[in-house]
Amino acid sequence: MIILKIAIGNDHTALEMKNQIKEYLSEQGYEIVDFGTNTPEPCDYPVYGERVAKAVAGGEAELGVLICGTGVGISLAANKVKGIRAAVCSEPYSAKLSRQHNDTNILAFGARVVGIELAKMIVDQWLSAEFEGGRHIRRVDMITEIERKQTCS
Ligand code: RB5
Repeated sequence: MIILKIAIGNDHTALEMKNQIKEYLSEQGYEIVDFGTNTPEPCDYPVYGERVAKAVAGGEAELGVLICGTGVGISLAANKVKGIRAAVCSEPYSAKLSRQHNDTNILAFGARVVGIELAKMIVDQWLSAEFEGGRHIRRVDMITEIERKQTCS
């Protein structure tokens, strides 16, 4: 899969890191759609998690990157959107495996947890990995089935 368009979002704790990651990815030729926040005023991370998740679920972007203080809150919000598999990754290995095995479509991390160079390595590994399919398809489908059952009940 050739990824062209990446949705990105953050809360106030991650504004500087978001801008650095945006620049880093733009330099590599990715088209970045920025869903904010773009001011340093304290804001609520679920707003941005939902915006990016809806963009990915709706096909406006192929993948998403979310950054808050820890990556936890913003990924929890994103995972409430149907079709989203968001994972918080604080190191490159989990980021890579989250694509290969779990077919994640959103990567989250924390601006208070990782430094910018580690964040770049995490993003690099995530973007260069591909879903392996095979035995992992059934497991990812099982996750989707949980979601489907919740929607129907
Ligand atoms: C904001 O203080 C902080 O709670 C938020 O950035 C994030 O870490 C939540 O999970």
